[in-house]
Amino acid sequence: MRRNLSEHDARRLMVCGPLVLVTTTWRNNEDAMPAAWSMPLSADPPLIGVAVHPSRHTHDMIRFSEQFALNIPGRRLLNHCQYFGTTSGRDVDKIELSKLPTFRARKIEAKLLEGCVAYIECGLEDALRIGDHTLFVGRVVAVSADEEAYNELWTLADEDEKPLHYLGGASYAMLGARLEARPPQTAGPAEESEADRERRELDQERDAEERERTG
Ligand SMILES: Cc1cc2nc3c(=O)[nH]c(=O)nc-3n(C[C@H](O)[C@H](O)[C@H](O)COP(=O)(O)O)c2cc1C
Repeated sequence: MRRNLSEHDARRLMVCGPLVLVTTTWRNNEDAMPAAWSMPLSADPPLIGVAVHPSRHTHDMIRFSEQFALNIPGRRLLNHCQYFGTTSGRDVDKIELSKLPTFRARKIEAKLLEGCVAYIECGLEDALRIGDHTLFVGRVVAVSADEEAYNELWTLADEDEKPLHYLGGASYAMLGARLEARPPQTAGPAEESEADRERRELDQERDAEERERTG
């Protein structure tokens, strides 16, 4: 049975890409916030988008620094995700309090979070006000991932190396197995035409007569 839902359920039905931890650095300030609303936007040039509410400290940090990193966590950082998503960098230094080590990014000033399975470094390309969020468009300038986690595709081979997905509230998920699609089976042999059927029946009759004659 199918149930009609409210318009607000659309956003929960849509959120199953990998959860990202957006890290930013501006002057001596560092911040990290989880964002479930992120998406690829363009292949060439490589652009990604992340929707951030203007009330987030991260919003100002991206505006001022004009860059940000997407850190893709696995299940080892599950509790960090919830903590970073329920406190604001405006009030506390979340990264320092969490004791999560950071390391230098390759192309931007924003720090990267140790223990994530993949990293995407971005310069700010555009900022579009969409409804009650700002869509920050990032130009990808560097990407790295654990070899066990990603090899042209997410490998999904090791539970600790799978990306996390956010369902809502305090609920998260991981992908199960990788399924490889094959082209659908083509239709069976073409149907016998009327002429072919007559020819085949005639042949069978002749064979039967021949067998009768020869005993
Ligand atoms: C798992 C998770 C995903 C979230 N996704 C988003 C998001 O996509 N965009 C957003 O603006 N806020 C999102 N939030 C809320 C912010 O992460 C939260 O308000 C955070 O405390 C903001 O931190 P900041 O003020 O230090 O930037 C999410 C929260 C959680 C727990």
